[in-house]
Amino acid sequence: MLIKNIELSNFRNYKKLKLDFSPNINIIYGQNAQGKTNLLESIYYLSKLKSHRISNDSHLIREDSIKLNLKGVVINNSIETKYEIILSDNEKKFKIDNDIIKKISDYVSNIDTIIFYPEDLEIIKGSPGIRREYINDELSQLYINYYKILSDYNKLLKMKNDYLKNNNYNIDINYLKILNSYFIDKGVIIYRMRKKFIDKINEYCNNIFKTIMGLAGFSLQYIPSIDFDFNDIDNMKKIFKEEIEKNQADEFRLKTSIVGPHRDDINFCLNNKDLKKYGSQGQQRIAVLCMKLSEIEIFKKYKNSTPILLLDDIFSELDDSKKNNLLKYINNDIQVIITTTDLNKISKKILKNSKLIEINSGKIKTIKEVEK
Ligand SMILES: Nc1ncnc2c1ncn2[C@@H]1O[C@H](COP(=O)(O)OP(=O)(O)OP(=O)(O)O)[C@@H](O)[C@H]1O
Ligand SMILES: [Mg+2]
Repeated sequence: MLIKNIELSNFRNYKKLKLDFSPNINIIYGQNAQGKTNLLESIYYLSKLKSHRISNDSHLIREDSIKLNLKGVVINNSIETKYEIILSDNEKKFKIDNDIIKKISDYVSNIDTIIFYPEDLEIIKGSPGIRREYINDELSQLYINYYKILSDYNKLLKMKNDYLKNNNYNIDINYLKILNSYFIDKGVIIYRMRKKFIDKINEYCNNIFKTIMGLAGFSLQYIPSIDFDFNDIDNMKKIFKEEIEKNQADEFRLKTSIVGPHRDDINFCLNNKDLKKYGSQGQQRIAVLCMKLSEIEIFKKYKNSTPILLLDDIFSELDDSKKNNLLKYINNDIQVIITTTDLNKISKKILKNSKLIEINSGKIKTIKEVEK
């Protein structure tokens, strides 16, 4: 999958911009605060209808303007599709090939992107909730049914929590049993899909980490909130049920559900040491990146297409050799769009094979096409 071109009007600090991309490496460079991240954000927004860095869309509309328009052509398996978003304070319209799309899920399932940006360090450093949110997003992008099961699970979780909160002295055990049985059915599927996903990441991430960092022994460790044998679904349900029963008194006392996949976590390990506690900042950053690069392989295998890779300011903490190792690694059949303030540290060979786009105050200053 690749993005052929993009057209922005009144997006962030861009009044008007039309840009064609190379199918391989695109490097967007320029000084601070010129609009490099904004440009990546526009591609991400075109694919996911949400920004990777803010939740309030109205910040995306250019100051002094009331409406933004984003257009882009994406090629997937040789088929070109036109996407368009129109956003103002009171409307958000999105179109595919000029047809208005009503359901968000019908729009966002089309363009696969993987974005890596500085705040992703929080996936390692932050709370388990951030890691769960991350796997949830990725699994939803890979499998449409995961999104559905997760939202069913969250509804049941909320029902159960509301019930525990509001009926503290008058709990109907039979009602709770029924609620728990639905809860367990959905929860077990989530546990299993997460386990499968982490196993798949582990097929690739060690090699990628070794290529970039020169160190072996990197893996992700899934820490499900219950210890299971993942191959035996009936047994998983039985153990899940027993675990809820064991914790029932605490759930009543705390008035909340304390057993289930909403309490899962993941560790990032280098030779079984937790990178959260032992890793350098550069190692942590590369660890998250390697997890994301492993997903490219999973997309290739299970969706039969390569996602578009967006890398924001990836170089800031990497020394020259790691930078070039990374670029060498991604320098094959994938489209990548990278932002940086400094071209000097990138090898000549890679620069020759890249499209270079210099941005200055929301405008293109120079463009250099890939050298033939
Ligand atoms: N809605 C908006 N309207 C106009 N300008 C905006 C809007 N939102 C952000 N900007 C401007 O965009 C600029 C920041 O752009 P961006 O974050 O893309 O910078 P950058 O080139 O990635 O810089 P850095 O190298 O520091 O990361 C700032 O000058 C900011 O004022
Ligand atoms: Mg930036």
